Amino acid sequence: MTTDEREAERALTEQVVASFANAEDARLRTLMQSLVRHMHAFVREVEPTEAEWMAAIRFLTATGKMCDDLVRQEFILLSDTLGVSMLVDAINHRLATGATDTTVFGPFYIEGMPERAYGENMAFTPGTPALVHGRVLTTLGEPVAGALLDVWQTADNGMYSGQDTAQPHGNLRGRYRTDAEGRFAITTIVPVSYPIPTDGPVGQMLRATGRHPWRPAHLHFMIKAPGYRTLVTHLFDKDDPYLQSDAVFGVKPSLLVAYGERSAGDELARRFGFSGDYREARYDFVVDESATP
Ligand code: BEZ
Ligand code: FE
Repeated sequence: MTTDEREAERALTEQVVASFANAEDARLRTLMQSLVRHMHAFVREVEPTEAEWMAAIRFLTATGKMCDDLVRQEFILLSDTLGVSMLVDAINHRLATGATDTTVFGPFYIEGMPERAYGENMAFTPGTPALVHGRVLTTLGEPVAGALLDVWQTADNGMYSGQDTAQPHGNLRGRYRTDAEGRFAITTIVPVSYPIPTDGPVGQMLRATGRHPWRPAHLHFMIKAPGYRTLVTHLFDKDDPYLQSDAVFGVKPSLLVAYGERSAGDELARRFGFSGDYREARYDFVVDESATP
């Protein structure tokens, strides 16, 4: 490359950056100018062929075509598998308040699932019976009464209800409220590891780069309480083989729980109606009272 060619390439970047100089919205101006600088730097670094650039455009087009308003959002999956979702999450939850760590929301949440009573079963498909219970606390250790825990997990086949239309409505989903002492209890099955969907462009990308699609077994939570910041997180099974290689980079050590073996006929089994052996996981969530939503 001659000096003139290098100068012309630099000048092009600066010309595009300058084209946003009059954007009224200062934040939009910053975002667009930074995006252009970083994209141009990427192109300068990898020097794509024209065929490679067209392939990238085709990949993004296919990603957009694989999105709908309900159960499939390939762009979220792309953001997740590139670690961008977890980076955005980290940047937005930097406060060292002692609140529970957050992790990815994922694309499989469904609004308006049934409200369930303390300890009610949400599993209508087979699996290893489990009790998941604990409390919702403030950063000062006070109980939060009336917090709403929206919970979702896959069935033993690794699919979420909604994604797998054969499952009954609301299977392995539910909304639980904490009692006056901040306690919640969920009767369910032990979650299993499962692969994220690989039938679209993200699956192609994973295969082409020798990456696996597995997520370690987890239970999703979105916890809301008036006056507290909404907490979006998971509890992961501490014995899962994929903890070190989650396809979406969502694991944090503070979110691991043990599903301990418990026997039929013990006190909790009687209280929660387990007729055979079952597993028990306990976890106390801490919500952040800072003002940000
Ligand atoms: C999930 O845990 O449901 C999930 C998260 C990110 C991508 C795909 C699935
Ligand atoms: Fe999940």
